[in-house]
Amino acid sequence: MKHEVIETNIGLMIILTIVALSFGTLVELVPLMFAKETHEPIAGLKPLPALELEGRDIYIREGCNTCHSQMIRPLRAETERYGHYSVAGEFVYNHPFLWGSKRTGPDLARVGKRYSDDWHRAHLYNPRDVVPESNMPDFPWLFEDEVDGEKTGGKMAALRKVGVPYTDEDIAGASAAVADKKEIDALVAYLQQLGTLLQSRR
Ligand code: HEC
Repeated sequence: MKHEVIETNIGLMIILTIVALSFGTLVELVPLMFAKETHEPIAGLKPLPALELEGRDIYIREGCNTCHSQMIRPLRAETERYGHYSVAGEFVYNHPFLWGSKRTGPDLARVGKRYSDDWHRAHLYNPRDVVPESNMPDFPWLFEDEVDGEKTGGKMAALRKVGVPYTDEDIAGASAAVADKKEIDALVAYLQQLGTLLQSRR
């Protein structure tokens, strides 16, 4: 029996297993690399302006993404609560993406425009002031620290290298665009645009 040759030869078995798994992986992944909807931006998608880009970095620095996902799954329970499910074309300019899967707090993929700027500021200063039962940490230092704009242009230039269409003017004007802004301004600006290109629940 030919099978016996493989089953009694562990080296051959390992090699053939790797070949089989690699083939399976290619069949799953390669079509995605060429499927239009996975790398074409959805209509209206623009790279984040300087202030929102800095806001995103503050979001990552403060670990917001360790408690909040940004990925609405196409299940009724999710779309009823959060709005339109997430589509790949919304994330083509996200490096790194912040989908996550840990939901200590609610998903934030479409939180943009759901609350006022004042609500976000109050909430981030002390979540218990607006949501008494909240166990989200407070972030009062964001109200004191100014955005460091020294590297904003450099960040945009780096993102441009991986395909985010920033213009030379965007990069040249980046530091000026975030000058004299507090970190809270940047973070709230970032939150307020999240997911607003597709319809939100509320
Ligand atoms: C330890 C986990 C944790 C961290 C870290 C965290 N959050 Fe939260 N967040 C929560 C929980 C729990 C809630 C739900 C209660 C509430 O609204 O405060 C929440 C709620 C929210 C909401 C309201 C969402 C809605 O749809 O009502 C926003 C906006 C938010 N968080 C933003 C942030 C931002 C921005 C950061 C980082 C600066 C952050 N969170 C960090 C746990 C966390």
